[in-house]
Amino acid sequence: MSRALVTGANRGIGLELCRQLVDKGWDVIGTSRGPAPALEELGVRVEMLDVADEESIDALARRLSNGTRLDLLINNAGCAEKSTLEDLNTPGMRKQFEVNALGPIRLTWALLPVLGQGSKVAMITSRMGSIGDNSSGGHYGYRMSKAALNAGSVSLAQDIREQGIAVGILHPGFVKTGMTGGRGDVTPDVSASRLLERIDELSLETTGTFRHANGEDLPW
Ligand SMILES: NC(=O)c1ccc[n+]([C@@H]2O[C@H](COP(=O)([O-])OP(=O)(O)OC[C@H]3O[C@@H](n4cnc5c(N)ncnc54)[C@H](OP(=O)(O)O)[C@@H]3O)[C@@H](O)[C@H]2O)c1
Repeated sequence: MSRALVTGANRGIGLELCRQLVDKGWDVIGTSRGPAPALEELGVRVEMLDVADEESIDALARRLSNGTRLDLLINNAGCAEKSTLEDLNTPGMRKQFEVNALGPIRLTWALLPVLGQGSKVAMITSRMGSIGDNSSGGHYGYRMSKAALNAGSVSLAQDIREQGIAVGILHPGFVKTGMTGGRGDVTPDVSASRLLERIDELSLETTGTFRHANGEDLPW
């Protein structure tokens, strides 16, 4: 049975990714920062993880180091905080870098021993991190942190290609979740099913590409 780990799995897109992976017969580990009743209802293994906390990442890596192999790691956890020019010097600005940019790269690095030939890593980024697609400005912390994630993910894709691990950089669409206050073009279930199609297509030939869940290539 193939095994996947999804971060930020207690709600939103992450929860829906877990639900659909379970339906497809995957063995799923979902991570949460606290109680996760909706995730537990799916019958998946729930692990505590704060992606902004190095000790929490190391502790998870140790718990998985008992022969667990991951075929798929979905770095889905993310946060969006208000960040206009007035907010540049706030903890919220730095938090977005820790959670959105450094967190997924640090976690992937820590979990490399349980990934291997044929494993895939999906980075759930945002087209808000695209420089070429930015025609409306603002959102400094979110845009900059997701652009940094994109840059780091391309380096990671190059660095772990030799190990046979492909990295996909994926925008989920504008999705009706807590992050958007329920606004969006698509529901989490539609987004999750499109993301899983893209992950299915991902290979070492397409490692390091930046795609919309609908299959469009996105500009950097
Ligand atoms: N919704 C959209 O339109 C949209 C568009 C583009 C990209 N995205 C990206 O898609 C991903 C999922 O977003 P969503 O819409 O499902 O958002 P969401 O409903 O707000 O869920 C975010 C998830 O990330 C978790 N999280 C936040 N900070 C964390 C941390 N430090 N450590 C571990 N987990 C943490 C949250 O856990 P808690 O419950 O503990 O806070 C929650 O499970 C994010 O990376 C987001 O940037 C979303």
